[in-house]
Amino acid sequence: MRETKETDFGFERVAPEDKATRVAQVFDRVADRYDLMNDLMSLGLHRAWTAFAVALARVRPGERVLDLGCGDGALTEKIAASGAWVVGADLSRDLVTATRARGLPAVVADGRALCFAGVCDAILTNAALHWIKPPEAVIDGMWRALKPGGRLVGEMGGEGNVAAIAGALIAAMARRGLDGNAAFPWYFPSTTAYRSLLEARGFQVASIELIRRPTELPGDITGWFETFGESFLLAVPAPQRADFIAEAVEALRQAILACDLPQVTKLPGAAASS
Ligand SMILES: C[S@@+](CC[C@H](N)C(=O)[O-])C[C@H]1O[C@@H](n2cnc3c(N)ncnc32)[C@H](O)[C@@H]1O
Repeated sequence: MRETKETDFGFERVAPEDKATRVAQVFDRVADRYDLMNDLMSLGLHRAWTAFAVALARVRPGERVLDLGCGDGALTEKIAASGAWVVGADLSRDLVTATRARGLPAVVADGRALCFAGVCDAILTNAALHWIKPPEAVIDGMWRALKPGGRLVGEMGGEGNVAAIAGALIAAMARRGLDGNAAFPWYFPSTTAYRSLLEARGFQVASIELIRRPTELPGDITGWFETFGESFLLAVPAPQRADFIAEAVEALRQAILACDLPQVTKLPGAAASS
């Protein structure tokens, strides 16, 4: 059945499919510098994580593996190197093109409507699940994609992730009479909440953990706002945006000086079997 309900994307009311399009546009825009950006944002940690994820998933030669939200294919490439038959899936056409440019198969697909059925030995996913709402839809799609006994290994943002940043943006929007919570583009669950969702769909959760991962940015936060905070910025009328950003940067600076930051955390997802 077609979803007709509208959803908020900051300033405008947009249909859910348009909201997904906006997320895809965020990543299309950074596709040509995605690898470099990832290095800068994670200080190279994502490389260690991808190797760890492949080991954790015990990917074996000949297995069929889906890399969901594959981005530019960095993890997909590691999975392929293990001898598995891997396909990347991502909402962003430009990032799918980047994955294919590595000589790897990849498809444009919305994680909320996966159409793989009982074909995957394993699903790996890195830094994508917190972009895909509602979480039940992607969990259901992953469940259906896995063979009985298949494994899911994922990393995503968890409860408290970028809380100080989002808090500064939401407060600056509130001062302008705007609803910042409606512009919040992510889903950052607690481990308890995510475990419940996985188990409700039938997964057996072997391990799920929230790991603190403070990340030092190479410059000031403005670049991060412009890339990942786009949904907040778009909600603010264009002539006010420079002031809005300056205000949020200053609020964060004050919070850091006062050592008043909530924990910044990452959730390394779940290893589970169907
Ligand atoms: C932060 S990037 C991570 C990319 C890659 N996994 C990595 O580790 O570098 C998040 C990815 O999720 C993708 N994404 C966001 N929403 C999606 C959706 N609904 N369906 C599929 N992919 C989605 C984005 O296009 C983007 O490539």
